[in-house]
Amino acid sequence: MHHTQPAPFPEGFLWGASTSGYQVEGGWDADGKGRSIVDARTQFPPGTTDYTVASDHYHHVDEDVALFAELGLKAYRFSVQWTRIVPDGDGAENPDGIAFYHRLIDGLLAHGITPVLTMYHFDLPQALADKGGWGSRATVDAFVRYSEILFREYGSKVEYWLTINEQNMMVMFGELIGIIDGPANTGVNVYQKNHHMLVAQARAMELLHRTVPGAKIGPAPNIAYVYPASPRPEDVIAADDLNAVRNWLYLDAAVHGRYNATAWAYLAAKGLTPDVEDGDLDVLASAHPDFLAFNYYATHTVAAPLTDEDRAAQGGRGGDQQIAFDDPGFYRAVDNPFLPKNAFGWEIDPVGFRMTFRAIYDRYHLPLLVTENGLGAFDQLEPDGTVHDQYRIDYLRDHIAQIQAAIGDGVDVLGYCPWSAIDLVSTHQGIAKRYGFVYVNRDDDDLKDLARYRKDSFAWYQTLIAGNALPD
Ligand code: BG6
Repeated sequence: MHHTQPAPFPEGFLWGASTSGYQVEGGWDADGKGRSIVDARTQFPPGTTDYTVASDHYHHVDEDVALFAELGLKAYRFSVQWTRIVPDGDGAENPDGIAFYHRLIDGLLAHGITPVLTMYHFDLPQALADKGGWGSRATVDAFVRYSEILFREYGSKVEYWLTINEQNMMVMFGELIGIIDGPANTGVNVYQKNHHMLVAQARAMELLHRTVPGAKIGPAPNIAYVYPASPRPEDVIAADDLNAVRNWLYLDAAVHGRYNATAWAYLAAKGLTPDVEDGDLDVLASAHPDFLAFNYYATHTVAAPLTDEDRAAQGGRGGDQQIAFDDPGFYRAVDNPFLPKNAFGWEIDPVGFRMTFRAIYDRYHLPLLVTENGLGAFDQLEPDGTVHDQYRIDYLRDHIAQIQAAIGDGVDVLGYCPWSAIDLVSTHQGIAKRYGFVYVNRDDDDLKDLARYRKDSFAWYQTLIAGNALPD
């Protein structure tokens, strides 16, 4: 469908930007913070930094919020690190850690920026991991208690809440993105962990609604709409399988409180169905998100699986959270010949963004909030302090134009929070892979002075937000 006039962005559209606690804050053990599984990680891809300092946002918080205000952000999506609030996950509260997020939230509110708070972004407390992590039902109770603390502390200040960031990526590609929850969890069925996270999420949603009137909450998976490689019916089934397993499993459970039938059949075929205790499905059904957040970087394209023989001859394809893997017997991941790739091999598909909006909205009829989308690139800081990232402006412009198309298609879009507000450390590709509107002066092997510099995309996004429209 072609719209002759682009739909305007609604008044109050949440133009935002995103970060996550462990990737931006640093101060990993400051003021009583406990160790998370990310802090405990020892294996890093060669040449990439750990998260001990990150962008040192913990010690630059006022300066960073002032930059967000200058940028004109209407919303800022960040995550609270569980280990700042409850250092060992289920024991004593840490007043200094609680105070840090009050300071951040108060700073945002003072500038008229709406906080969008992610409760959990990959950083499980290591002490809980040692006791079985998400493989143990005790972690569900610990998460609910942590939620109670967050709602008690920040409920009067925060309207938009996100439960768990990219639960689907943690389940499908945990090790790849460095989310390793320790020996106590080795060999535990990841879909059992997934089930426990779904129950924890549902309990948190129900609790917020019961205790904080007017607050809104939703899940935040990574959704990549899956195309069939061709109209061959077997390719179409393969795409439908991956859509179910990667995308709809998580949203069907969050919205409808039930397992997607195709995804359940996939788990059964692999011997991975979780134990579902009495009452669990009632808990899932009792929770009702107010909106759906999703992270979008690219679509995927798959074909029917190879026969064992062909597979042995050709080998399988590996990837990461945005480059689909082969799943023998279910689908074969292929490149989409119509799409360019970024410097890290991720396909770039703005039209797929529109398609993803439409598919989600059509299934669930809830308002949608984009909590990540962006371009990782090797930015260059010039001697005069400028960073010319026209490629990022092009990427954002093309994606934002497709949000307009989706709005024209009838999709209810609450806002857009691209990744990332400022440079931060990637999940598995270091800080050389930059996403921010603000350059942070450090490298993977040299902390330098951590000074902040506005990139060209900063001025461009500032103009866009001020006009509530794409600049000419
Ligand atoms: C998402 C995560 O997977 O994508 C973020 O929610 C992550 O934490 C972002 O940083 C970009 O991925 P990467 O691997 O480039 O950091």
